[in-house]
Amino acid sequence: MSWKSLLEGVYSLPSRVYFFDTTLRDGEQTPGVALRVEEKMLIAEALADLGIDVIEAGFAVVSRGEFEAVKKISGMGLSSQICSLSRCDRRDIDAAVDAGCDWVHVFIATSDIHMKYKLSLTREQVVERAVEMVEYAKSRGVVVHFSAEDATRSDQDFLMSVFRSVKEAGADSIDIPDTVGVALPHVMRLLAEKSRRVTGLPVAVHCHDDMGLATANTLAGVEGGAEIVHVTVNGIGERAGNTSLEEVAVALKFLYGIESNINFEKIARVSKLVARLTGIPVPKNKAVVGENAFSHESGIHVHGVIKNPATYEPIMPEQVGMRRRIVVGKHSGIHSINTVLRQYGYFLNSDEVKMVLDRVKEIGDTGHKLSDHELLEIVKELLGAKAAGPVALKGFQQITTQSEDRCIAEFEVQGEIMHSEGIGKTPSLSAIDASLKAFKNILENVEVKDLSLFASPYEDRHPYEAEVTLALSDGVIIGKGTGKTSSHAILNAMVSAVNQHLLAVSRRVV
Ligand code: KIV
Ligand code: ZN
Repeated sequence: MSWKSLLEGVYSLPSRVYFFDTTLRDGEQTPGVALRVEEKMLIAEALADLGIDVIEAGFAVVSRGEFEAVKKISGMGLSSQICSLSRCDRRDIDAAVDAGCDWVHVFIATSDIHMKYKLSLTREQVVERAVEMVEYAKSRGVVVHFSAEDATRSDQDFLMSVFRSVKEAGADSIDIPDTVGVALPHVMRLLAEKSRRVTGLPVAVHCHDDMGLATANTLAGVEGGAEIVHVTVNGIGERAGNTSLEEVAVALKFLYGIESNINFEKIARVSKLVARLTGIPVPKNKAVVGENAFSHESGIHVHGVIKNPATYEPIMPEQVGMRRRIVVGKHSGIHSINTVLRQYGYFLNSDEVKMVLDRVKEIGDTGHKLSDHELLEIVKELLGAKAAGPVALKGFQQITTQSEDRCIAEFEVQGEIMHSEGIGKTPSLSAIDASLKAFKNILENVEVKDLSLFASPYEDRHPYEAEVTLALSDGVIIGKGTGKTSSHAILNAMVSAVNQHLLAVSRRVV
């Protein structure tokens, strides 16, 4: 759904928006976050792959390590433009240029409070310095992006005169930072409109989330004609953080119908990478990338989503690299239990499902969050072997060494015990390779079309969940499995997919 036609009548929206990502600079200023050079390089690579136009790789002058990181990222040959932050100081600009940046983000504060207490400069001195440093940066052959720090608390006439002056000095684009997150959407829209009118330059907005308005303010800036949005992955940043990349990207595409270079299906991957490397977890209820963003528990919602996901999902999880999850708990209904169990290869009759549902509600009422694995244990406890399909995983061992993963498995296939072993050597994929080989030794006509591994949010003993999509003779089937290790979860997922297939075939034969 898009509001494009309605909005176009009111605002002159840009046809394309450019993403300026500052995860590696403002994001790294999150209290407690410090990234190593290699970690910054990994994130930069992922950001380029995501389609970010400009990566603010750091603040080159602040330390030797920071300079090295910016320099290494500049030398990676990424498709994004690389930028460094720089105060209005020749040493900062020199460090950015020497680090090989394409863009230099020159800033100086323009609010009275910052000029008086932080800079001890008069308005005239601030303008003079800004002009001189923009000219200097231009003379060093880089693209100059100018920010008026604390723009939203600056005297508006003064702010416009600063923007006018830096434009004349050669700035290529200007940015309106809402440094302490006090803007309102209406204010940001007006400021963007005015800045564009006064300078004729491309305008950026840089918002902070102190009042929870960063995304709304950024979008309002775009309504006012801003073509560049400053964002961070997962919205990390100083204090309450910056504008969240994923929220703005999704809103621009799906609600405004505005183009960008973002590869949406890569969003979840980048979000996870940044959460892991910064140690800042993504809140479960975070829009777009939170574990719950596409999770459903209530029976009414699950019923709707099973019939048509759009009943309770504004976009499909796959569009942003996420997955849909049906969570079982006290709000569940028959449909939820059936859907989850089918994915694990269990087909129960209505009395059996009712028994399982009663137990799930009983446990849910105690406040316990049920994992999928615990749900399967309930089924086994209540219904015993009845629930198992024609193929079962009877035994399993995963041996991991520095060079390989070995997966040793024992299966029961229609009453016959079969042993199998698989070895995987592909770096970082060896466990997956080993388990797929072990499985294919017993059922070779199985083609794996897709495989995803997840960490279970509610489970320590079986922390892995796998989802496999198999191409079988009569179509595609999805199976899920939990496990103590990744291989264990994959084998269980393969078994459940094959069982679903075999049960469906046997039903057709009967
Ligand atoms: O929030 C801010 O004002 C900044 C500037 C350096 C752009 O991060
Ligand atoms: Zn900032």
